[in-house]
Amino acid sequence: MKRIAIFASGTGSNFEEIVKASRTGIISGTVALLVCDKPGALVVEKARALGIDTFVFSPKDYQSKVEFENHILEKLSSFNVDLIALAGYMRLIGETLLREFSGRIINLHPSLLPKYPGKDAVGQALAADETETGITVHFVDEGMDTGPIIDQVKIKIYPNDNYDSLAKRIHEIEHEFFPKVIERVLGGLVNGD
Ligand code: GRF
Repeated sequence: MKRIAIFASGTGSNFEEIVKASRTGIISGTVALLVCDKPGALVVEKARALGIDTFVFSPKDYQSKVEFENHILEKLSSFNVDLIALAGYMRLIGETLLREFSGRIINLHPSLLPKYPGKDAVGQALAADETETGITVHFVDEGMDTGPIIDQVKIKIYPNDNYDSLAKRIHEIEHEFFPKVIERVLGGLVNGD
């Protein structure tokens, strides 16, 4: 069975759905580890409740990104991780992880990339009066949400939508979509090399 590490910094609703999908057979791999850069984030509690091992760290405890990514690498190696899935990890991946996990890091982003990369993609789409936005899963490179796109889903924005209603709809669709894409990547149907 392939082994997945989820990187997340926040609420972890996608993390939870990926774990469920791995336990119901939607994903044929197992979630081996949560990596979280925010001690106290809700996702850490969720991991503990679900019995998933965690590596929680504070970047400020390290001299540099190279140093904390080397520590992450040690953990990934001790948990025999095959694939990294970023689900709300609010940090750019550096060269240390990219080199070791080339083509094996994927990210979930709440817009139709290349539109609205970076923070608050939902707010950006609303502010631009878009009538449509979406979700993208892509391979991670050194840029901000710039790597090769694996798949996307379009989502309508209705005239009466506000931030909360749109963010809720996006999350609901992410919860179904991301596990399915993870499964395709694990099955080798798409690969990042
Ligand atoms: C998701 O909307 C994802 O697209 C973005 O961060 C959010 C994470 O949400 N990258 P959650 O923590 O999984 O609820």
